[in-house]
Amino acid sequence: MKLAIGNDHAAVEMKKEIQKYLEEQGVEVVNVGTDSTESFDYPIAGYKVGKLVSEGKVDGGIAICGTGIGISLAANKVKGVRACACSEPYSAEMSKRHNNANVICFGARVIGIETAKQIVDAWKNAKFEGGRHERRVAMITEIEETGKLKAAED
Ligand code: RB5
Repeated sequence: MKLAIGNDHAAVEMKKEIQKYLEEQGVEVVNVGTDSTESFDYPIAGYKVGKLVSEGKVDGGIAICGTGIGISLAANKVKGVRACACSEPYSAEMSKRHNNANVICFGARVIGIETAKQIVDAWKNAKFEGGRHERRVAMITEIEETGKLKAAED
């Protein structure tokens, strides 16, 4: 498995710990975040993670900023990205099972490293269930690709 990881200045230490944690499990990690605590604009890291995922160069992405919110917004603007900001493992697992999230995001100022590891594991190890969820995820893609949703038209 190959994952991209990106972060801003608020999440340097957490990024390093998560990268190490994944590499110890044999996961290949592509680091596109900053390794400096100098102020760094989170959209750059969110975009880079999203781009690698969108182009199929990695199997998924992890994006961390102070809250997980800004970086998830940026990653979600890249076509084909479904980035979910989660603060606990249940939502992280469901983000894959029901929403087929290909990027998981969290906040280094919100949660601790043990919760972050649980979130990564929950998301990484879960499988998309397809079925009715496939239809709903396809609707999200339709909005992204056409700017409209046929099922919502009167
Ligand atoms: C940086 O101060 C902070 O705004 C950023 O890490 C993130 O929380 C944005 O959503």
